[in-house]
Amino acid sequence: MRRTTLLLISLLISAQCLGQNQTWQLLSPDSQIVMGIHLDAEALSYQVSYRQQTILRPSKLGLAFKEQGQLQGNLKVIHVNQRSVDQTWTPVWGQRSPIIDRFNELRVELQENSATGKQLQVIFRVYNDGVAFRYVLPKQAQLTDFVLSQELTEFSFDQNYQAWWIPAYRDQRYEYQYLKSALSSVDVAHTPMTLIGDKVAVAVHEAALSHYASMTLKNTNDNSIIFTSDLVPWADGAKVYGATPLTTPWRTIQIAENEVALLNSDLILNLNDPAAPDLDTSYIKPGKYMGIWWEMHIGNKNWSPGADQGATTERAMQYIDFAAQHNIDDVLIEGWNKGWEGEWWQRPPIFDFVTPVDGFDMDKVSAYALSKGLRVIGHHETAAGISHYERQMEDAFNYYQQRGVQSVKMGYVGTRLEHGAVKEWHHGQYMVEHMQRVVDSAAKHHVMVNAHETIKDTGLSRTYPNMMTREAVRGMEYNGGSPDTGNLPNHTVIIPFTRGLSGPIDFTPGIFNFNYQKHRPHNRVPTTLAKQLALYVTLYSPLQMAADLPENYAGHPAFQFIDDVPTDWQQSIALQGKIGEFLVVARQDKHSADWFVGATSNEDPRSLSLALDFLEPNQRYLLTRYQDATDAHWQRKPMAYEIKQQQVSSSDVLTLQLQPGGGAALKFALLK
Ligand code: NOJ
Ligand code: CA
Repeated sequence: MRRTTLLLISLLISAQCLGQNQTWQLLSPDSQIVMGIHLDAEALSYQVSYRQQTILRPSKLGLAFKEQGQLQGNLKVIHVNQRSVDQTWTPVWGQRSPIIDRFNELRVELQENSATGKQLQVIFRVYNDGVAFRYVLPKQAQLTDFVLSQELTEFSFDQNYQAWWIPAYRDQRYEYQYLKSALSSVDVAHTPMTLIGDKVAVAVHEAALSHYASMTLKNTNDNSIIFTSDLVPWADGAKVYGATPLTTPWRTIQIAENEVALLNSDLILNLNDPAAPDLDTSYIKPGKYMGIWWEMHIGNKNWSPGADQGATTERAMQYIDFAAQHNIDDVLIEGWNKGWEGEWWQRPPIFDFVTPVDGFDMDKVSAYALSKGLRVIGHHETAAGISHYERQMEDAFNYYQQRGVQSVKMGYVGTRLEHGAVKEWHHGQYMVEHMQRVVDSAAKHHVMVNAHETIKDTGLSRTYPNMMTREAVRGMEYNGGSPDTGNLPNHTVIIPFTRGLSGPIDFTPGIFNFNYQKHRPHNRVPTTLAKQLALYVTLYSPLQMAADLPENYAGHPAFQFIDDVPTDWQQSIALQGKIGEFLVVARQDKHSADWFVGATSNEDPRSLSLALDFLEPNQRYLLTRYQDATDAHWQRKPMAYEIKQQQVSSSDVLTLQLQPGGGAALKFALLK
């Protein structure tokens, strides 16, 4: 079904003209969110309220150029356009299908009050799950090529909310534990930043980030609650190199009655363009993978060639054999190519992306995988050496395509990206444009992309559906080889409410063996085994890794859940939770009537009541519960789990007992 209405609705969008000043009001389709837009001599500004509660006070908009001055004050309206859209669209893969896209929009076209004044347009949209706006610089003689020195977008919050955030401009990119503080204590944060208030939850982020720098949120003063959009600069200080016509990413403010409802928002994807109608998506398939990976992170093996080399033909074939006996689609091999000698992350990269190291036969391994109905997942670790990589990129994707490889994991380990003689942040325009080249080249060779250490997600997978998943988070690897003690038990009940709002997370769950302290005495996975299973449901990704070693899965009946859990969904519903404490998510398989539930807790035990009213009424389901044993504990007894079966229907209410750092993973199979 596709229904687009293009209407002028005076009730939804009301305008007032008071001398030079003008005011418009834009309502969400359900009238719960109101966006006020106001033009005066100083600037165009916006404000937002939700159920009569002010969220953002009047906040100014504008841009500043290196050479052409500011574009903010002294503006006149040259045209105003309004429309309402109510349609659905079908993603190639995702958390639900179809997706409802319903909003009211106002486009204000402005010009500076002078004969040769620069032109600026701002598009505002209000959805039931939040608001968004973006700048458009139309083609104009008075502004052609430009360097943006600053974006003047303000976020003047009404309340000193509780903020969940990670700091920007740090060496480990997005790989930090989330901080919880008063909003006024935030100095400069990456997005999404999630804010919790009284009867409201808000997340500030962006959508459709392309040919631009990523936005961070910078406090305008010590202890203030007024923030500005701080674009991550190039090495020379410029924010964006552009030319008109140019459309900026959307600035997004997701709003819901609580943080759980935020998880059910499709705002970010809805704001991205549909994929080109003739795009070949036949090779794009969500799925599960294993790989030569965790054994390096826990220090049993190494990426470097030699005696401890992780990637060997024999080891790869062991993974393939295990995967072929299970419902696993792909096997990742890291460290198979030349260039991993010694401290590869410390020196200019010497990676050769098409030549295997001694002891690894890519032709044999990829052919063996295909013979077993599987595929190898390729690996392009660039160690942040962008030009070294780009010189080989086409050949490297081609090499994989010829061997039946249909997905590649990317890596950008390093504190800054190499850019000739200078170094760039991982989050500026340089990286945004590099990733676009990667995704385009991969698509040409029918390759899906899973990118680590990359730019945050802003929903571009709607337009480029081979951009499957990414890290951009402090993932499981930190419980393996990180020099500190790894992630805290509450980390995985924070990231769905923060990082997860931006898009899929390649967190790599599925650790079953917690006794790996031989080489990593200070590290541990801070969950129970049952919680590892639950993460397949609470952390969304169309490609999910079963991260542990095949021998650690052997003999575990719990692996059945990993075999069964899908990675593509018809419906997804965040049911209950509290950021930092717990989360329960239910999802229905895209290709069957079966449902799956994941419930996860922080370091505290808890008992949850779960109404099964999401199930189809008047049907019986066989429920298989994978849950913490009564004495399970993330530190003391992580591997203690039990599996129970019973018949249930939608009118039943279950009690879930989660132990400290624990969880429960549930499968509901429809009984015919
Ligand atoms: C960091 C990535 O996040 C990790 O998954 C990978 O194993 C290493 N880099 C090596 O490329
Ligand atoms: Ca990483």
